[in-house]
Amino acid sequence: MAASNWSTQNIQDQQGRLVIITGATSGIGKETALTLAGKNASVIIAARNMVKGQKVVDEILKQHPKADISVRELDLTSLDSIKTFSDSILRDYKQLDVLINNAGIMMCPYSKTSDGFEVQMGTNHLGHFALTGRLIPLLMNTKNARIVVLSSIAHRFGNIDLSDINWDNRAYNTNKAYGDSKLANLYFAYELSRKLEGIKDAPIVTAAHPGWTATELQRHTGLFMFLNHFFAQDTSMGALPTLRAGFDDSVKPGDYFGPAALFETRGYPVTVKSNKKAHDTLQASELWRQSERMTGIEFSI
Ligand SMILES: NC(=O)c1ccc[n+]([C@@H]2O[C@H](COP(=O)([O-])OP(=O)(O)OC[C@H]3O[C@@H](n4cnc5c(N)ncnc54)[C@H](OP(=O)(O)O)[C@@H]3O)[C@@H](O)[C@H]2O)c1
Repeated sequence: MAASNWSTQNIQDQQGRLVIITGATSGIGKETALTLAGKNASVIIAARNMVKGQKVVDEILKQHPKADISVRELDLTSLDSIKTFSDSILRDYKQLDVLINNAGIMMCPYSKTSDGFEVQMGTNHLGHFALTGRLIPLLMNTKNARIVVLSSIAHRFGNIDLSDINWDNRAYNTNKAYGDSKLANLYFAYELSRKLEGIKDAPIVTAAHPGWTATELQRHTGLFMFLNHFFAQDTSMGALPTLRAGFDDSVKPGDYFGPAALFETRGYPVTVKSNKKAHDTLQASELWRQSERMTGIEFSI
């Protein structure tokens, strides 16, 4: 099969491997969970809404009756919830093979998380920073572990003002705040990858973006929601960059996957390039320090 046509057929049997997917109650995360359940992975859906999460588990079990899939509560806008979730995983499991940081919100009205973080940066970046930091000991203890970070073409609109990360001193621009959070996802992926470089058996960190995929993400933007009908690909294609980042055996640390066609909006997953800013190591390390200060999480690497 040509590299440009990488598909779910390329994923080997995942029996005995544990995968956690944040935000798998809809869209790309749900599709990712469905695929991996069908490949015999043990899948944990990390969901803020347990009723929705259980419904997805039941739907997936209908398609794959023997699947090992369950849901646990995780609200990325709450550091307490992240701690409770992570403690339960650390208590119940001795390995974690793949952590997929998928959950996200886009272009929503201004609000703050329960810890006082601007909600898009708080959910998309800081919540996942804290979650990964809490789970890193388990990932470090697992051979061939991987961490997949979801970003977006929108990282190109990002330009994070680290002196005002919570937008306390500026008029709020929700589009820009989304771009900032997706740029932060790449800073995080690349910085974590650099920190793990050279450590024997350390997890591989990769990133992915789904191009333009019809999901619930666009619910705050009427125009995008309308245009979804004409331009967006479906979730079975939209989940492929994530799946390739997580399960292609030939990936290298720091690889970034996205769709191949139409300015990376659709198609089969290939390695893509993020913009120059995403490779600014000074910004990345400063964001890392600020994320540690804000979340109180230091990675024990
Ligand atoms: N769709 C696209 O075209 C596109 C393009 C670029 C990047 N992405 C990225 O792809 C990822 C998945 O998005 P999607 O398109 O599949 O959107 P989606 O259908 O809206 O799914 C987002 C998921 O995140 C969950 N979530 C939101 N806030 C959360 C929180 N505080 N705690 C825990 N979970 C939370 C949602 O839970 P609920 O079900 O409870 O709302 C949902 O399960 C996101 O990171 C997004 O930025 C998507």
